Amino acid sequence: MRKAMAEAIVGDDVYGEDPTINLLEKRAATLLNREAGLLVPTGTMGNQIAIHVHTRPGTEVIGEAQSHIFHFEMGAMAALSGTFGRPVASEKGILSPSDVESAIQPYGGHRTPTSLLSLENSHNLASGRITPPSRMRELVDVAKRYDLPVHLDGARVHNAAAALGISAAELTNGCDTVMFCLSKGLGAPVGSMLVGDAETIDEARRIRKMFGGGMRQAGVLAAAGLVAFDEVLPTLQNDNNNAKRLAEHLSQLPTIVLDPEEVDTNIVFFSLSTEAPMDARSLATKLNDAGVLVHALDAESIRMVTHYHISQSDIDRAAKMVSEILTTS
Ligand SMILES: Cc1ncc(COP(=O)(O)O)c(C=O)c1O
Repeated sequence: MRKAMAEAIVGDDVYGEDPTINLLEKRAATLLNREAGLLVPTGTMGNQIAIHVHTRPGTEVIGEAQSHIFHFEMGAMAALSGTFGRPVASEKGILSPSDVESAIQPYGGHRTPTSLLSLENSHNLASGRITPPSRMRELVDVAKRYDLPVHLDGARVHNAAAALGISAAELTNGCDTVMFCLSKGLGAPVGSMLVGDAETIDEARRIRKMFGGGMRQAGVLAAAGLVAFDEVLPTLQNDNNNAKRLAEHLSQLPTIVLDPEEVDTNIVFFSLSTEAPMDARSLATKLNDAGVLVHALDAESIRMVTHYHISQSDIDRAAKMVSEILTTS
């Protein structure tokens, strides 16, 4: 990947002259069976451009209550697009079509109208849970009945598709725009893609410039994305399998609360029971010091994520480390 980056042919992408970016955008569109694609610096920018394109100020965006757009995007939908979030609670990250339907407010003179349904699949805070294709279809159908566009935050949608054994195009069918990350599981250092129809992506390109995301000779980044498509994307099921293996190991430990059945993709969340000898933050510090990088979400829960460079023996070693720290402290 580093070699491909060094050798990339570049041009000024603000003028559409970077051949490596143009190729990456075409490949991303083809992969998701959409007309056009756009390289953006981050997943957050991809989501926020989509929100800006699909909505207008003074309207509401419906999303799952624990979704990334509500928790980790710095209130950008309000700051950049003048929109209001309408969080809908769900069963472990999988929205119910009837709950979404109840949250929709039509255009009219009294209530704040809904302008967008934003989905997240896989769902980060719900342990990488997958919303299956049949449920995706039902959610899209509800939105379409009310003439609402649908955006998918598919930061890790390729992990979800790999776990289901279907294409990301099939899983995301009917969504007007899809964002997915080249960084994260696909292993590129920077970048995310936004795909959709040609008209929407033309407008997204204008908004990307407005948000400060127009890049010049960024073909070096696109070259990494192309390697990710060719070499990393076909291996994503290994990461999902490794996460399941990690969850199975960890769930054997008496002070860890975790159901491996709830691990669908490459994210493992667990919490510590009250009998644990330390809280999650102290455990995370000890693991990080020992070279196992994990993230403590709060005092109770830890998130672990698998990726291309983590092997099965790394998984076994990491689980052993967790066990040793919890039993010898
Ligand atoms: C579900 C989801 N969406 C969007 C993002 C945002 O990506 P970025 O960090 O590239 O802005 C993340 C990042 O973790 C994520 O987990």
